[in-house]
Amino acid sequence: ISLKDYNTFGIDVTAKHFVSVSALDELIAVLKLDQYQNKLILGGGSNMLLTKPVDALVIHINIKGKSVLSNQNNSVLIEAQAGENWHEFVQWTLEHNYGGLENMSLIPGNVGTAPIQNIGAYGVELKDHFVSCQALNLETLELETFTKHICQFGYRNSIFKHEAKGKYIIISVVFELTTTNHVLRTNYGAITSQLEAMHVVTPSIQTISQAVIAIRENKLPNPKEIGNSGSFFKNPVILNSQFELLKQNFPNIPSYPVSETEVKVPAGWLIETAGFKGKTFGNYGVHKNQALVLVNYGGAKGQDILELSQLIQKTIYRIFNISIEAEVNIL
Ligand code: EPU
Repeated sequence: ISLKDYNTFGIDVTAKHFVSVSALDELIAVLKLDQYQNKLILGGGSNMLLTKPVDALVIHINIKGKSVLSNQNNSVLIEAQAGENWHEFVQWTLEHNYGGLENMSLIPGNVGTAPIQNIGAYGVELKDHFVSCQALNLETLELETFTKHICQFGYRNSIFKHEAKGKYIIISVVFELTTTNHVLRTNYGAITSQLEAMHVVTPSIQTISQAVIAIRENKLPNPKEIGNSGSFFKNPVILNSQFELLKQNFPNIPSYPVSETEVKVPAGWLIETAGFKGKTFGNYGVHKNQALVLVNYGGAKGQDILELSQLIQKTIYRIFNISIEAEVNIL
């Protein structure tokens, strides 16, 4: 079977075996099949680059459902199953006037994979509303609860990229959202100007979501039209001292403070300054509106995109002496 429709990059590689599961007991039954040595767990396929045929049983997590666990004093606990599409889930919360996830509208992927990289956008990260998740231990086939503290969330990071990597499948996630007094986060410049453009005087969680959708549609390619995985790289964190040196040669270099001693530099700016923005190489390239996004215009090979990403990394290192790290998983 081709995995083309199961990865947002739209890379056409085959999987030796494939199964889609829609319930926990089905998943456990499949995991018990011991004729398949290698198993690859697939969620929304929005954060991976497939570079070769997958010689494994691919298990597509398609477990759906959302429910309200409790609702009192401006706080509602919602449990969503792993196979829920992230954006559709966010829209569902907004239809019920539950606040918190609006800044993270239109992020590709599923609920179950969102905690792995602590998805985030426009000043809000998943961890800000995460309570806990249930994950299936692949060794014991028992569910375990991961509290927020246990998850060790960081910038595009969590325990699921470290100690817990490859050992668990996230089955469901509990979020804490607001019901009446919403905290509106509009301090991101792009959101303020978009709300103004939309003539919104008194923003709501719903109009903030609409603003975010408009910003993202303007800047980021829709994976249904042009294959991509969102930001291909993480924004690098460098020492203040290195940043000051760079500033002498690149007076316009942007930065965000991270700690007393470090700043984050937008990788998109580095890539654009290195001349890659909008560059195409046949059927793949660097997106024209957002240099952090590598794109497949149709029929590109994962290996080609991987090599482009390595060329970008080398060039950035040569020009700025900064190593940028891939955010997507290379398989
Ligand atoms: N920039 C450029 N050229 C570009 C792109 C960006 O100069 O081609 C500059 C912009 O001018 C701006 C800065 O880089 O000064 C930051 O750009 P932007 O606000 O678009 O955000 P980003 O750092 O590129 C991050 C996340 C996105 C998230 C946005 C908005 C990472 C790796 N990416 O991008 O997340 O949507 O902020 O909050 O942290 C994702 O992870 O897939 C993703 C899309």
